[in-house]
Amino acid sequence: MRNLLTISDLTIEEIGEILREAEYFSKGEIWRPKQQTFAVNMFFEPSTRTKSSFDIAEKKLGLEVIPFDVNFSSITKGESLYDTVKLFEVIGSNIAVIRHSQDRYYDSLVGKVRIPIINGGDGCGQHPTQCLLDLYTIQQEFGGFKDLQVAIIGDISHSRVARSNKDALSKLGANVVFSGPEEWFDKSFLNNGDYVNIDKAIEEADVVMLLRIQNERHQSTSNMSAKEYHQQYGLTLERESRMKRNSIIMHPAPVNRNVEIADELVEADRSRIFKQMENGVFVRMAVLKKILECGGL
Ligand code: CP
Repeated sequence: MRNLLTISDLTIEEIGEILREAEYFSKGEIWRPKQQTFAVNMFFEPSTRTKSSFDIAEKKLGLEVIPFDVNFSSITKGESLYDTVKLFEVIGSNIAVIRHSQDRYYDSLVGKVRIPIINGGDGCGQHPTQCLLDLYTIQQEFGGFKDLQVAIIGDISHSRVARSNKDALSKLGANVVFSGPEEWFDKSFLNNGDYVNIDKAIEEADVVMLLRIQNERHQSTSNMSAKEYHQQYGLTLERESRMKRNSIIMHPAPVNRNVEIADELVEADRSRIFKQMENGVFVRMAVLKKILECGGL
């Protein structure tokens, strides 16, 4: 595996290998590259979870993390993404994790720079390591994916998490449905997932996966208030009471409490929201190891 750009880059076997490796790391397995290895985490969009868990994953693997803050970089003087990544390549970084607001930003890099790229999220495109940590969390709970009912609910059309998870879960045999405001449902999803009413989606799901409202990507402000959204499309206490006995709640976070999900449910027994964040470190260690080994490190 040379880069990780979209979840579709991975075969079912490769996904299985990464999840197994994440499990080993969760149990304290140690792996080190064969030589001094540098990583740079280039986040052109805000992030807390993804950036911090890559930082920790890299340090746990013994990598040296090169500090990079876009606001204090020469990007502010007009330097391009390509020139910035090329710079890190020539000064000795062995791998770059990049988040960028532009869909498929990596097209300007792949085949042109030699260092491997891990996509930390591209616009409304893909978020493959979030998807892998979601898969790992679901596998821990249910042991597999075949015939699982997964309801992805919320701001579907702006969500790279929805795209990545729909691709992977469908490939792994789960049945994915979508719900939320219909105007936020991208019809291109219809090939692999049906749009269903919120109450039916929640009652039938093994996994209720809520999505953040991505206000920063909306062209116009919605007429719906946060309270109205919560009542119409959120996981209220009343809707949670109608979930299946063993079903779980997931959310990639950050969470808008009392909008996508009632405050009391964020840390409820059936919520795996903080488990997802914990698992993110192990999954990212597994991805880094796989890519570095592929490069002979
Ligand atoms: N889930 C996720 O990508 O969170 P951050 O934006 O905080 O990285």
